[in-house]
This record gives sequence, C-alpha cells and structure tokens, in this order.
Amino acid sequence: MPAIKIAIANQKGGVGKTTTTMNLGAALALHNDKRVLLVDLDPQANLSDYLGFDGSDDKPTMTQLIINTCQKGVISPEEVKLSIRHNEVNNVDYIHSDINLASADLYMLRALSKETILKRILGDSVTDNYDYVLLDCLPSLGNLLLNALTAADKMIVPVQTQKFSIDGLTALISLHSQITVTLNSSLSKPLILPTMVDNTKVSRSALETLSEKYGESLLETRIHKSVEAAKSSETGVSLCRNKTKLGEEYRALAIELIEKIGGEK
Ligand SMILES: Nc1ncnc2c1ncn2[C@@H]1O[C@H](COP(=O)(O)OP(=O)(O)OP(=O)(O)O)[C@@H](O)[C@H]1O
Ligand SMILES: [Mg+2]
Repeated sequence: MPAIKIAIANQKGGVGKTTTTMNLGAALALHNDKRVLLVDLDPQANLSDYLGFDGSDDKPTMTQLIINTCQKGVISPEEVKLSIRHNEVNNVDYIHSDINLASADLYMLRALSKETILKRILGDSVTDNYDYVLLDCLPSLGNLLLNALTAADKMIVPVQTQKFSIDGLTALISLHSQITVTLNSSLSKPLILPTMVDNTKVSRSALETLSEKYGESLLETRIHKSVEAAKSSETGVSLCRNKTKLGEEYRALAIELIEKIGGEK
C-alpha cells in the first residue's frame, strides 16, 4: 500500500505545525509500529533542529533535492534516498532543511510545473518504504506550500485556539479547495486540529467558532497548552517518549488518524 502523505499546514506562524509533525510522527512510529518519514519544508529548519540535526555531514538537503529536480525535471529515487536520515530516539526517518530553502523557493518559480516538484521528489519508489510521510510546512501561502498540497493526500491544519487564530483560515481552506480542482484531485478534506487549548474564555470561544464553521473537518483530539512542548523541542525527545499529558494527546491523535484515514488509501 502506498504511503499516506500528510501536509501539516497553516500560513499563520507558531500554531504548532512543527510540534505536531514531530510528535504525531513519533506517536505513529513508537506506539503504532508505523514506518514514518518526516520532511522539513521550512527554511527555519525547526523540525531538523528538533530532530537533533547538526549539519555535520554532506547528505543532500531538501534545498539540493529541489534545485536538482528543477534543473533536470526529474530526480532519481536513489539520490532522494541519500538525503534520508534516521532519528533513533523517536524511530523516525527524516529529510532535513536549511536556510537556503528560502532561495530554492524562488528558484522553483522559474521551473516548469513549479507546483509538482515535491511530488516528483517524493515519488512512490521513495515513499513506498513508509506508512506515513508528514510534511512540516512553513508559515506562508507560497510555492512551497502549493508543492506540499500537491504532493499530499491529506492536510492537517493546527489552529491555535487563541485570539485572531481563526482569521486567515478561510484563505487556507479556499487554497485547499482550489488545489483539489486543479493540481491534486486526491487531496481529501482538511482536518483541523485545535492546539494550545486552555481553560480561558478566549480558547473556549475559539473552539466554539471552529466547531460552528468547520464542524465537519474538526478532529476530536485537542492539544492543550503546556510547557512540555518547549521542553521537548529543547531535548529532542518527543512528548510521547515520556509520561506527559501532551504525549498522551498526540498518541490519541495518531489513533484518531489511523481510525479515520488509515484504511483509505
Ligand atoms: N501545545 C503547546 N503548548 C504550549 N506551547 C506549545 C505547544 N505546541 C507548541 N508550542 C510552542 O509554541 C512554539 C511554536 O510551536 P511550533 O514551532 O510547533 O509552531 P509552528 O506552527 O511550527 O511555527 P512556525 O510557523 O514558525 O513554523 C514553540 O515554542 C513550541 O514549543
Ligand atoms: Mg514550524
């Protein structure tokens, strides 16, 4: 069965995309025996840092894979596989990114079929070794995001249940529907994940609005606000490796996903 590719996307910054990519990935791998590939698609490279990447060897970066694909139109699966690293602690594979990805983003704009570059990089011969491929997107509605949504089967949208968090969601949902009628008809409906939920009036009211406006797309799992998230990214150990409340929530998310979409593809 081909891998299920999930873009973790929201053009708003700091909503929990990277935390979700890492911890959902680890929950799928460590607790559900799934083979997981995480792909860092953000020039900030927060996911690569979280995974402990220290830039010490010469494996190709996501930037190089993109530039080579732009130049030749195709890239060999062997070359892509060379860029894959393994993170022992969380039992996930990953492709790292770096700051140069910002210039690759511009480089892509001149390429033919500029939205399908990532889809060509993450072809079946590369991803067939995995059950899930999670794409950690950057906070922007630019070409890298278009590439992620063109390569993906699903989109998870982490939404911080705080003030102004729901503004901007309409633009992303509208982009998603445009993609489904142009570049990727197999992209299924968005899955909205409330993050940084707390017991404040603002958070409760954001949840209510999400449920009224996007009820059908709203996941059942809630990710609460906790300092455990920052501690985890400092140590590079995913939340579900230790007994933490957030870890349990990410494990619940993994199970909800497997139940909802595991058998769809
Ligand atoms: N559930 C949570 N509770 C409290 N803090 C959190 C939670 N999830 C993430 N954080 C913290 O919030 C910050 C932003 O999280 P994260 O990097 O996952 O967001 P992001 O959407 O990937 O950001 P960016 O748009 O910059 O890529 C980080 O410092 C992270 O540790
Ligand atoms: Mg991020």
